[in-house]
Amino acid sequence: MADATSHSVPSHVAIIMDGNGRWAAARGLPRVAGHREGAKAVRRAIEAAVNHGVHYLTLFAFSSENWQRPAGEVQDLTFLLKHYLRSELAELDAEGVRLKVIGERERFGPALAQELEEAEHKTANNKRLTLVLALSYGGRAEIVAAARRAIEAGIKSEDLTEQNFANFLFTAEVPDPDLVIRTSGEQRISNFLLWQLAYAEIWFTKVLWPDFCGRDFASALEEYAGRERRFGARPV
Ligand code: FPP
Repeated sequence: MADATSHSVPSHVAIIMDGNGRWAAARGLPRVAGHREGAKAVRRAIEAAVNHGVHYLTLFAFSSENWQRPAGEVQDLTFLLKHYLRSELAELDAEGVRLKVIGERERFGPALAQELEEAEHKTANNKRLTLVLALSYGGRAEIVAAARRAIEAGIKSEDLTEQNFANFLFTAEVPDPDLVIRTSGEQRISNFLLWQLAYAEIWFTKVLWPDFCGRDFASALEEYAGRERRFGARPV
């Protein structure tokens, strides 16, 4: 359970990476160019998280709603993800990054789902940073799936608590995010980690995701360090 102590560096940062399309449009480029540039910003965010001593970094890479985008864009995003995994995994592993995927990975097809699982196994013992990739992820769907699993596990309604319910979520062994960042000026949560963000600090920036860099990450952490977290309690 969270308490009202203040920690200057967040243990878990979650990011809603937004603005790839607008970044591309501003340059007269196809949307995929924004996503490609966005994948480079992913590397910068991971580096920044490692450098600041953040332990968990969750990236919203593909939402359940993103399946409604034109087939070509879904294909581009899937290709980029596959390419990213193949080209970056060895380096991530060498840097001590453990990969964990949350969401309905099966929807990407058995081959990619298996590749993701193998990447999780390969990096399972790494300790420096846990990189949580939210793929085909939706917060409401996650809660409903968790409720189903709790029922299937035979939990009696009187035994259900916030603590044991959380064990049925995709994020069972991951602490709740302390800080959530959303880029591109939009100020919404967009069905991201609805349960887990209950007490997260939120930081919005107008920077479009492909432009996001270590300095932006540092600004978010700096503002976080000055916030007073109460978790619903009285100030200490
Ligand atoms: C939002 O921008 C971003 C996405 C839907 C996908 C995020 C994907 C990446 C950053 C690249 C690949 C990821 C990995 C992990 C390799 P948008 O398209 O909604 O932008 P817009 O709101 O400006 O149109």
